[in-house]
Amino acid sequence: MCTEVPTPAIEPVVVVSNERVAEGVSRIVLDAPRTAGAVEPGQFVHLRISRHADFILRRPFSVHRARDGRIEILYQVVGLGTRALEDAVRDDVMDVIGPLGHGWRVPDGTKRALVVAGGLGAAPMGMLVERLAERGIEVTLAQGAPSAGRLLARELFDNLCSRAIVATDDGSAGLCGFVTVLSAEQLGRDRPDVVYVCGPEPMQRIVADQCAGAGVPCQVSLERLMGCGIGACLSCVVTTRNGLKRACVDGPVFDAADVVWDADGGQEGGR
Ligand SMILES: Cc1cc2nc3c(=O)[nH]c(=O)nc-3n(C[C@H](O)[C@H](O)[C@H](O)COP(=O)(O)OP(=O)(O)OC[C@H]3O[C@@H](n4cnc5c(N)ncnc54)[C@H](O)[C@@H]3O)c2cc1C
Ligand code: FES
Repeated sequence: MCTEVPTPAIEPVVVVSNERVAEGVSRIVLDAPRTAGAVEPGQFVHLRISRHADFILRRPFSVHRARDGRIEILYQVVGLGTRALEDAVRDDVMDVIGPLGHGWRVPDGTKRALVVAGGLGAAPMGMLVERLAERGIEVTLAQGAPSAGRLLARELFDNLCSRAIVATDDGSAGLCGFVTVLSAEQLGRDRPDVVYVCGPEPMQRIVADQCAGAGVPCQVSLERLMGCGIGACLSCVVTTRNGLKRACVDGPVFDAADVVWDADGGQEGGR
């Protein structure tokens, strides 16, 4: 997975569907044959919401799934761009630059993986879980959300993971508490060969620390404000032990052990 990074290109895309799938979160399906055929788990697209001429800047979104020439994006409405995206209807035309960035890597010899997803952090995990399952890797998913109604992609995860456990802040599903309690338990219980994490940055950092303590390799997907998405504007820097890196081309997935947490303030909120 992700040994060769496909060349990104601009592709016109057509909206197939756009619907609410959880509280505050929608799924848009785009006809995008080139991107769908090239994207690897953990990569993203830079989307121009072109019905609205005032959106000069593109918005970055993880590709949740890619199949039959289509890509799926799970998105939360947080501002102007995502509000406009929510208004998009079937047959609207937009365009994407993609696939972009470096996605998840599968270390040689991996037999068991732990996937930890907090909130919108489930977005880049769909393709990952599909690919791990295809390779016969046993996947445990630990997923967290504020409430049961905000747990994403439950059906996909339940179908493909050997074990899918959840935590909610209000206790409406699974453990009442943070997903980091589940990740700590899982690390102690079935030592995985690798851990994949996405969600709010403080949560990613806690899981990274847990993995470092357990001696298990961990990958995190970091969110930064992105201007160009192709490495030119330096709006997306991440401080690593090997110097400053650009989340759009060197990430968004990084080895957790390389990340210098707090050095650049992280991303307010995260996913
Ligand atoms: C690699 C990558 C993958 C992403 N994948 C997804 C995804 O799968 N689903 C999803 O819903 N969101 C994802 N995001 C975040 C998404 O890009 C932003 O939520 C979106 O650009 C906000 O646009 P807006 O015009 O609605 O908000 P704006 O009006 O631009 O901003 C509204 C609020 O959102 C914050 N914001 C804006 N851009 C970002 C950003 N890049 N990251 C975090 N916060 C931001 C702003 O600081 C502000 O508080 C991803 C971001 C990155 C960098
Ligand atoms: S978004 Fe411009 S360098 Fe990363």
